[in-house]
Amino acid sequence: MSRTDQMTPDNLYKYRSVAPDMPPIDSYMEDLRFSYSVGWFTNFGPLSRRLESELAHSFGMAGETCVCVSNATAGLSASLIASSRSGQILVPAFTFPASLSAIRAAGLEPVVMDVSADTWTVSVECLRAALDRFVAAAVMLVSPFGLQCDFSEHIDLCLDRGIAVIIDSAAGLGVSRPQRNVHKDVFEVYSMHATKPFSIGEGGVVFAHPDRDEALRAALNFSLLAPERPDLPEWGFNGKLSEFHAAVGLAQLRLFSDRVVGRQAFVRRYVELLSEDVGLTMISDPRKAPWQVFPVLMPSREACESAIASAAARGLELRRYYRPSLSRWPRIRLVGDCRVSEDLADRMCVLPVRSNPDGSEADEIINIAVGAMRAAVEA
Ligand SMILES: Cc1ncc(COP(=O)(O)O)c(C=O)c1O
Repeated sequence: MSRTDQMTPDNLYKYRSVAPDMPPIDSYMEDLRFSYSVGWFTNFGPLSRRLESELAHSFGMAGETCVCVSNATAGLSASLIASSRSGQILVPAFTFPASLSAIRAAGLEPVVMDVSADTWTVSVECLRAALDRFVAAAVMLVSPFGLQCDFSEHIDLCLDRGIAVIIDSAAGLGVSRPQRNVHKDVFEVYSMHATKPFSIGEGGVVFAHPDRDEALRAALNFSLLAPERPDLPEWGFNGKLSEFHAAVGLAQLRLFSDRVVGRQAFVRRYVELLSEDVGLTMISDPRKAPWQVFPVLMPSREACESAIASAAARGLELRRYYRPSLSRWPRIRLVGDCRVSEDLADRMCVLPVRSNPDGSEADEIINIAVGAMRAAVEA
């Protein structure tokens, strides 16, 4: 077989948009040996429980429980099931389709609404207007790109009306979470997918009120006790984290704070080089996220396409994100038009981020990405 026959996206680019930041194999072998010695590989085993308590210690709010899950999508569905809501769930259009899939997988009906052009999230005013028009059982809020978002006003608005809140912060594990009172109708979910900063392969975590711990675990384990426990969800599915992934998670946690510092320093280099460029919109504070990727809003769809093409010609993968907007999904129910989300989806370009901000690889990635951005806005 010739080399071109074997071409995969991995060798079309010298630098992929995301390079999985997995911990080295040796760093989790000892924990895996323990799993083999006790013969326990899943079903909320000792490594998952240890990871949960360490994640709660590092990222939880006082009084929260932490439940590991097989991926964030399963965590979102389990949270919806554990909230024991049924009916319509509001969700923003500017997000990854997993937010939508999780609602459908929980047997509920998504209703998609637009986001605000300033924050890329749903504004409190639009949420209030949507809640006045639609009978919603829960609202899914999304922290786009894992950006730290203060949703306290949204949460108060929902709780006042008895509506549950599920926060999808998939890419955001690693930055401090705005403090709020822990409430049994509020759940926050993160991903540990290989592409996320807290990368373990597949995995996720839910932070919630301790009163929801049992219901969450039931939802993630077929709700086996449902026939004799009417207080638990009526049904569930298999969304548990394996002990293999938990071992990787424990190793990742030991490395993670340095990795986040590195990723934020990487983003600081983009901000220093690009923030003065007219026509580009970006978050200027690198501490706002652990940065799976760095989103930059381009002045037009054409500029976005041109930046991606010129970076690709030099071996670097830049990507669109949250595209198409959920408003374009088949048979989707909308609160109103989703012009802002559709426009953001057309113009958003994401730049690669690595946990090592120095050295020749970082220099080359930043050089190509910045050059491609500038050429595209000047064209
Ligand atoms: C906003 C959002 N929600 C949910 C997910 C799904 O995460 P997972 O792959 O862990 O199910 C993603 C994945 O990228 C995401 O970006």
